[in-house]
Amino acid sequence: MTDELLNHPGALTGDVRPTASYTLRVNGVERPVTDAWIGESLLYVLRERLGLAGAKDGCEQGECGACSVQVDGQLVNGCLVPAALAADSEIGTVEGLSGAGGASDVQQALADSGAVQCGYCTPGLAMAVHDLLQRNHRPGEVEARQALCGNLCRCTGYRGALAAVQAVADAREAALEAELDAAEQAAAAGPAAEPPAAAPPQPDHGAELPLYADSELWHEADQLIPAQPQGETPRTGGYAYPPTPPHGTPVPADWQQAPGEPFGAPAPGTDPFGTVTYQDAGPYDGTVYATDGYGTQYPGYDATPAHGIRLPEDENA
Ligand code: FES
Ligand code: FES
Repeated sequence: MTDELLNHPGALTGDVRPTASYTLRVNGVERPVTDAWIGESLLYVLRERLGLAGAKDGCEQGECGACSVQVDGQLVNGCLVPAALAADSEIGTVEGLSGAGGASDVQQALADSGAVQCGYCTPGLAMAVHDLLQRNHRPGEVEARQALCGNLCRCTGYRGALAAVQAVADAREAALEAELDAAEQAAAAGPAAEPPAAAPPQPDHGAELPLYADSELWHEADQLIPAQPQGETPRTGGYAYPPTPPHGTPVPADWQQAPGEPFGAPAPGTDPFGTVTYQDAGPYDGTVYATDGYGTQYPGYDATPAHGIRLPEDENA
């Protein structure tokens, strides 16, 4: 069956119904609708053509309110509004209440107040409460009952929904008062002081960074270390190297290159960054744990192999 026949189911019998293409603006997004029968309801188009299934199809005759949406700020039953007539209008659905961050305050209050059981009426109720609180920030109980009288709930009754209206009104009022208080205090304090300039990032010398922790060589070196005998003070990390400063970090003034030393090597007895820390390695038992690539033995701690240096044991690997 061709798209043409799908869109015009009466074509085979000659009963070709009029169609139209238009754009709906739903929750701030332009949604084109193509070749739709002009009799399709807004509820049908939202659910079946645009995939917005929040509004529910309860009675399709304006009785239950499950299909409630806003059209240009007015709460309507989506099942009673021809979608083509809503073209170029601002349409708000329950999907637009929550944004990207989860339930809106209205939806959360409905859930918290026990107004949700099977949930079929909930999207319509949420839209009705949202619409009410947009028009009336502090509705009384009668006003709330009037606003919700077009939304049928066959599970929970309406106490939860009415409590949700009050809870949201209270919370919004409290938030507004807090905001006004803060604004008053800010005005009384005078113009805001310039925030202090952010300090430039400093290299974190001496931090216990697991240098070479992911290096294959490091793991190989680890395997050379004999297991710590039971009962002895465990080694707690050996020698902590300072982290490599970021590119562009000025060389400290006290880092003097010793005559005859290759560039970049610290003078004997000096610490290039003044921050080398030695952690408690426990009592040294004289064991040689590893050697570096040049055969120098470093007793008491495991040597950190330099980049690209293979451990002697690896030479024959
Ligand atoms: Fe629209 Fe029931 S489905 S009022
Ligand atoms: Fe089931 Fe309202 S929660 S109809």
